[in-house]
Amino acid sequence: MILKETFTLHNGVKIPKVGYGTWQITDEEQCVNGVKWALDAGYIHIDTAAAYQNEQFIRRALQEANVKREDLFITSKLHAAKKGFDVAIEEFNKTLERLGTTYLDLYLIHAPKPWGDTSDKDWMPDNIETWKALEQLYREGRIRSIGVSNFSVDQLKQLMAATTIKPMVNQIRIFIGSPNRKLKEFCEKENILVEAYSPLATSRIFNNEEVVKMAQKYGVTAAQLSIKWCLDYQTLPLPKSTHQKWIVENSKLDFKISKEDFEYLLSL
Ligand SMILES: NC(=O)c1ccc[n+]([C@@H]2O[C@H](COP(=O)([O-])OP(=O)(O)OC[C@H]3O[C@@H](n4cnc5c(N)ncnc54)[C@H](OP(=O)(O)O)[C@@H]3O)[C@@H](O)[C@H]2O)c1
Repeated sequence: MILKETFTLHNGVKIPKVGYGTWQITDEEQCVNGVKWALDAGYIHIDTAAAYQNEQFIRRALQEANVKREDLFITSKLHAAKKGFDVAIEEFNKTLERLGTTYLDLYLIHAPKPWGDTSDKDWMPDNIETWKALEQLYREGRIRSIGVSNFSVDQLKQLMAATTIKPMVNQIRIFIGSPNRKLKEFCEKENILVEAYSPLATSRIFNNEEVVKMAQKYGVTAAQLSIKWCLDYQTLPLPKSTHQKWIVENSKLDFKISKEDFEYLLSL
């Protein structure tokens, strides 16, 4: 089952190939049910963030599902507006408390600058200080792997030049029609795993007639084709759904996309 297969990060940590996305699941019951259905369907990797305001609901779901912590891979993210060494440590501790765990498998800087920031402030010095906090937490064994999200090639280069540990992951927006090629190739060259967020284009993929048509040819759904395409593109998809039927559907990925069709979808 693909959900149990792993990519290996540059520090040797194995990360399950598909994660359950939880952005915009702010209702407690919806979140608890979603996570439990995902676990039932075989997901062992959960992607959350302080900004999603659902870490405490995920804690409840994990308690009720009675799963072993070591059987799960949990990612959370430091809020984009929370920068600096001490702030990062403080926010990390709050995340652990909300999730009810003593460590994270992956912790990311959610974005290089606060959302909505329109100033011309250079945030890289702040990101570098923040990263040093993540490095410390990593060295202390409180996080198994560390990374960033929404970082450009230039921002990655600046971060890498000023710090010791290279990010293991960059979580960026990738779906059919938006392959983000240059950034993806740069990360690949640097051995930084790319996680594909919004693999269904936050549901806009279903309006793409080419995707719908090709999915019919394979006897799968447009969602399944889109998620599988991200995997074939060597990125780690994070599909989100609050419907049990779709959560299960998105986990069934045991089919092959031909090389020609993969390339065609890449060219869209
Ligand atoms: N790092 C970042 O800045 C960032 C940004 C965006 C997203 N992310 C991560 O990536 C995850 C996924 O991205 P996303 O939330 O934008 O959405 P997505 O996974 O691209 O799409 C989710 C949408 O598709 C619907 N859907 C899911 N499976 C379906 C299926 N089989 N058939 C029909 N509809 C289906 C969902 O409906 P229902 O929910 O109604 O079931 C929801 O409306 C997020 O949850 C988050 O973990 C990270």
